[in-house]
Amino acid sequence: MKYIKVYLIVALLVVSCKTVQETTQVVKTDVPIVDTREIQGGMWIPSLLEGINELEMQQLGSKMTAKDIYDVNNSSLKDAIVHFDGGCTAEIISPNGLLLTNHHCGYGAIQSHSSVESDYLKDGFWAMNYEQELPNPSMSVTFIKRIDDVTSNVFLGVTDAMDEGSKMKLINQNIEKVTKSAQKEAWQKANVKSFYDGNQYILFITEEFNDIRLVGAPPTAIGKFGADTDNWVWPRHTGDFSMFRIYADANNLPANFSKENVPYKPNHYLPVSLDGVEEGDFTLVFGFPGRTNEYLPAVGVDQIVNVLNPAKIEVRENALKIVDSYMRKDPAIKIQYAAKFASTANYWKKWIGENQGIKKSNAIEKKRVLEQEFTKIVNEKDLVGYKTLLSDFEKLYKEIESVSLARDYWIEIAYRNVELLNVTFRAFQIEQAYLKGGDKGFEDARESVLGRFEGMYKNYSAEVDKPVFENLVSLYAEKVPKEYLPENMVGVDFTALTNDIYSNSKLLTYEGAKDLLAGSAEEAIKKLNEDKGYAFGKELHTIFYTKMEPKFQELNLQLIAIQKQYMKGLMEVFPNKRFFPDANSTLRVTYGQVRGYEPKDGVYYNTTTYLDGVMEKYVPGDYEFDVPQKLQDLYHSKNYGQYAENGKMPVCFIGTNHTTGGNSGSPAIDAHGNLIGLNFDRVWEGTMSDMNYDPDICRNIMVDIRYVLFIIDKYAGAQNLIDEMTLVHPKK
Ligand code: ARG
Ligand code: GLU
Repeated sequence: MKYIKVYLIVALLVVSCKTVQETTQVVKTDVPIVDTREIQGGMWIPSLLEGINELEMQQLGSKMTAKDIYDVNNSSLKDAIVHFDGGCTAEIISPNGLLLTNHHCGYGAIQSHSSVESDYLKDGFWAMNYEQELPNPSMSVTFIKRIDDVTSNVFLGVTDAMDEGSKMKLINQNIEKVTKSAQKEAWQKANVKSFYDGNQYILFITEEFNDIRLVGAPPTAIGKFGADTDNWVWPRHTGDFSMFRIYADANNLPANFSKENVPYKPNHYLPVSLDGVEEGDFTLVFGFPGRTNEYLPAVGVDQIVNVLNPAKIEVRENALKIVDSYMRKDPAIKIQYAAKFASTANYWKKWIGENQGIKKSNAIEKKRVLEQEFTKIVNEKDLVGYKTLLSDFEKLYKEIESVSLARDYWIEIAYRNVELLNVTFRAFQIEQAYLKGGDKGFEDARESVLGRFEGMYKNYSAEVDKPVFENLVSLYAEKVPKEYLPENMVGVDFTALTNDIYSNSKLLTYEGAKDLLAGSAEEAIKKLNEDKGYAFGKELHTIFYTKMEPKFQELNLQLIAIQKQYMKGLMEVFPNKRFFPDANSTLRVTYGQVRGYEPKDGVYYNTTTYLDGVMEKYVPGDYEFDVPQKLQDLYHSKNYGQYAENGKMPVCFIGTNHTTGGNSGSPAIDAHGNLIGLNFDRVWEGTMSDMNYDPDICRNIMVDIRYVLFIIDKYAGAQNLIDEMTLVHPKK
């Protein structure tokens, strides 16, 4: 295996060198004859850009070298990028550790500092000096200090003769060794991540800062303008940004919050371009994309699009309709459910777009064609290790289908969308902790669950949850394959059941839940099991753990092993194709150009939107499309200062950068390394890019950095923030 691995890497290197030379020759003529569509898409590892990627970027218009982007010994762009609180990306835009990210990434923090008297979500927040900045106790940001390929160490001793279980055991032991022996400072962390479905392993040395303070946020009417209606949609007019600052100790090192801490001095911060973008300009997006599945076989995509997505879409659609009807009637419920509604609606809408895109672009058919080609070459070259992969996929996907579906229904209904069932799931964990760890296990679990409940019940309304329960539990009984259905759901009158549970369960309020869980472990567990709501949920969760998970894991492990082999096969069989590793929440570079697109026949979408469009969408008093008076005034007086473009105020623009969830807040960077925008979304027609990136219609959406500056300067009057940035004119 080790030799095969080395051979593979050498083969890849030879191939890449060859391609570099070939392409270099093309570039040497004055007009590069490159189909730029062919070199877009992909999320690349920053330490491995030299060669092909560097060249592609230059062909797309970049003036940067690979080392300008990632360098261990000198400062480079990567020193300005952080993983923001685990889920988003942020970038440093001043020598004093000023951070820029999305409004929807800072949302929780902004909300936590808000009250009725000072509602920063509604009115915005601006610190006019360091003293006014607001600490966020549980927030953190992470820098990537170094990235090393450790594949050969991780595969040490692994041979082809080993079965998958022994291989994984040894690989995990090797990973532990590599992690433990990694060279790093005491305050840094080391972790190893798998790439190309387990064909490559990379070590990351990271540095985490915990004193992160809120600096600024526009009102929601700007930061979330268009809300769910405009979510995933172009043309867009959202100023989706917020600002924070990293604080460090006197030695510029990570430290917990302290008044003595000082603004962090970064190795690099991004200069901000005032010159804007036009169609065809180079753009690079640098951030932490979460998850993609670009190399699934056709049968896997088919299952997602035709079986799993439709099921999840239906569940969420039912839930959203019910919750929406209550939110419209009652302003208190509207506030309670706003964040939950937005998060449920977010992926509901994404899956619909994804399904449409996959169908419209014939992605499944195209994958089948590729697979035929793969099989042909495998047979011609007699590549024994790859011969049964595609039939194995067919067989396994068929086998896993019913349990995958059942599991998705459980996740969407019993875990996520019926809140009472989620509560019973947490309580179920307490009971499990008791069975495993006795009184001590119980105490610990009770404490952590009650802590969670306290926040959760603040935004809970049994009145809203009850019809959701009735609707979704009936759907569960109807749709979940029979073998995974508990007996208490067969032949049941769900209206009567719902009425019974919602008049008798104590889990409908925080006080009730506390009561139920009070007393000794034994008493509490007994009371819990007498509760009708709990008893009902427990059946669902028991089947999940005893039937669904074991079956799913057994088959999924086989799928993972085949996928790993298939990934390796693809790279070997098609040595000239571009293969990027699927996103896995590690730091990546993606590049492309500012480009419009044709969403349907006869319609072309421009690259840029303007403040005029905000005013076109304006609906006075509407919770999605209201426009603050001050912004209207600025619009009417055209008071745009140095941020205008031909007398107009640009708001958002789109490009061909290949992004996904987690890229929120990522900087959009120009050909010279300056900040030109802030990534926050993708277009509806292109959300399928997680499984099938297509440069014709996949576009990422960015806020134009000039709109961000305009809001900070002219709307908020926070000149102090503008002053600490470095504004540049790369085009003049
Ligand atoms: N669709 C964007 C992303 O996935 C923005 C989500 C936040 N906005 C919203 N309206 N839910 O995450
Ligand atoms: N809004 C997404 C996020 O929160 C980014 C958009 C996408 O999925 O591409 O990361």
